[in-house]
Amino acid sequence: MIIDGKKTAEKLREDLKKKIIDLKSTFNSVPGLTVILVGDDPASKIYVKNKEKFSKEVGMNSEVIRYPKNVEESVILDKIMELNKDKKISGILVQLPLPKHISKKKVIETILPAKDVDGFHPVNVGNLSSGYDSSIPCTPLGCFLLLKKVEKNLSGKHAVIIGRSNLNGKPMAQLLLKENCTVTITHSKTKDLKEECLKADIIVAAVGKPKLVKGDWVKKNAIVIDVGINKTESGIVGDVDFDEVSKVARAITPVPGGVGPMTIACLLNNTVECFKRANS
Ligand code: GUN
Repeated sequence: MIIDGKKTAEKLREDLKKKIIDLKSTFNSVPGLTVILVGDDPASKIYVKNKEKFSKEVGMNSEVIRYPKNVEESVILDKIMELNKDKKISGILVQLPLPKHISKKKVIETILPAKDVDGFHPVNVGNLSSGYDSSIPCTPLGCFLLLKKVEKNLSGKHAVIIGRSNLNGKPMAQLLLKENCTVTITHSKTKDLKEECLKADIIVAAVGKPKLVKGDWVKKNAIVIDVGINKTESGIVGDVDFDEVSKVARAITPVPGGVGPMTIACLLNNTVECFKRANS
């Protein structure tokens, strides 16, 4: 089975569109997302454009604030504090990576946790790891929703996550723990990655190494979620060798068309959730 992230994301956006119509009739206002983009990183520019496009498409208010790459850190922090106070703004996202002279930590910690649609603020990270209600980082949330489409009951499954980033690996582990999975987080210092993967009922690969996971690394009937987006001479490929692994796995996400489209849909979902919490 090939897990269709594009279709699943479309369905999620359709559902959000309906929810936003309902919210508008109840509260006479709609969720608002503000994205801050610093500099002109080509990949970030594409991501931000898509975030703007899809948030408008589902009926939200959407604004992108752009700054040149030499903008002072204090300008960004002041803008975030202004947005924190603005009742029309439900969610704030500062696109990463940021130029070196701007502290990612300070930026993330300045965003009000209730408006942190990325789920990166330490309060949200803590809430997720404690099992409380919080914004959940968009990429792992997207992976999780795709996984649940294949397998409703994840209890007792052995999940192996490749990569320990704050963006994906660590929050993914928390989501799977909450579902009673046994979770192994692997990383660049893991002794025998192939051996770890062979124990997995679920593999989530998020390391940025093209076609790292091979067919003989995967147990028959495992579910494989590929977060990788790697530019190679032969085009965009994931962290999983799709041709090999798709012959062994029970279900697999393609690249492109797997996790990627889910990430923005989950961002829109998080913005709606922030709006609902703010109005409840
Ligand atoms: N850059 C790449 N992915 C992300 C993301 O999920 N959130 C933010 N803020 N920046 C990113």
